[in-house]
Amino acid sequence: MIKALKGMKDILPPQNEKFTHFLENASQIAQKYGYEFIETPILEETLLYKRGVGDSSDIVGKEMYEFIDKGGNEISLRPEGTAGVVRSFIEAKYDRVGGIYRFFYHGPMFRYERPQKGRFRQFHQFGCESFGTKSGYEDANIIKLLKEILDSFHLNYTLKLNTLGCPKCITPYKEILQKELHKIDELCSDCQRRRDTNPIRVFDCKNSHCQELLKEVPRLNQHLCDECESDFSELLNLLDLSDITYEIDPNLVRGLDYYTKTAFEFISGDLGSQNAIAGGGRYDKLVELMGGKPTPAIGFAIGIERILELITLPKRERGGYYFGALDDSAMQKLFIEAGKKRALGERVIQSYDAKSLKAHLKTADKINARYCAILGEDEIKNNKLWIKDLENKKEFTQEMG
Ligand code: HAM
Repeated sequence: MIKALKGMKDILPPQNEKFTHFLENASQIAQKYGYEFIETPILEETLLYKRGVGDSSDIVGKEMYEFIDKGGNEISLRPEGTAGVVRSFIEAKYDRVGGIYRFFYHGPMFRYERPQKGRFRQFHQFGCESFGTKSGYEDANIIKLLKEILDSFHLNYTLKLNTLGCPKCITPYKEILQKELHKIDELCSDCQRRRDTNPIRVFDCKNSHCQELLKEVPRLNQHLCDECESDFSELLNLLDLSDITYEIDPNLVRGLDYYTKTAFEFISGDLGSQNAIAGGGRYDKLVELMGGKPTPAIGFAIGIERILELITLPKRERGGYYFGALDDSAMQKLFIEAGKKRALGERVIQSYDAKSLKAHLKTADKINARYCAILGEDEIKNNKLWIKDLENKKEFTQEMG
């Protein structure tokens, strides 16, 4: 038997209903904040991610589904959505036109990670990206938007916040950090590699011995430039004004290299070790790095599978019609009547097996239909459908068209 690939799974009932419900809700909330739908290809040039997400990140260094296509091109399945949206933004020349652009997207992402609970090789994200404003109000609004989506599903979470500075402060800080890290000789092999490629990533190490060793190492918040310091306190002030509670976490460095200034994650207490339900931040240098005109930007992505684990849908109400025939001679007429009902906007599921009234009522109940409509010899003679309302148990007849 052929099975789905390791770390990839089907979205079947009842998860399918939660999945579409989540997307509808999240899209509606994003539109309320001025975001428009965007769709970009799942395959892109590998170079896009090497340059955008960063060669030194685990995502690009270890986890990409990378291959050569039949034309000899180096391409990759997208590990995340931001780089593709940035590529599209520049290709459409929005950076040259100027102004503010806000996009939302959803779709599958691919990372060749070790699968475990909440961590898949194909998973789905819902993301928002805003281009063209460096205002702190946009940072506050995008966090409010993300929070509104999570709150609409009554989720419990902690919002973790940090600032990752700008080239003016992060570049000298990284040199200081690198020197400090060279003084520690018991770091794990991953941290030793990070020390030389992107030292701030050491703070993300899950190894408790490394965390202990890093306790005394200076954090970026002690080395911020004046602009980054005041931008961060402006954001905290706007969040306070909005009654949004947060935890400042100087260890929050994110796993992608493009971030500047604001970085945030929403962490759930109800999941296992894979507890990040959403993450994002500013990436003011990325458009320029990808060859566009300098354009400030900020965004986030939600991991949909992790949300599906946490939400329960209200009991589905009965809906639509079930159409059943008592004998084969009524089947064609039933088929025509079902079509007419659908043309009126109703959901109709027709049974193709003639059977007793009792058997039809049982099936209609099983599929949670509101109405069970029956056609037999007598009904055809009277040109009327017999209908039972399964909600309030009332029976009636209805003229056929
Ligand atoms: P990220 O933190 O890598 O950010 O991913 C966002 C969310 O996707 C995570 O918080 C998590 O819920 C989910 N996720 C990540 N990897 C997996 C996996 N292997 N299995 C299941 N869920 C997963 C980004 O991708 C950035 N592009 C976010 C962003 C947008 N930043 C700015 N704009």
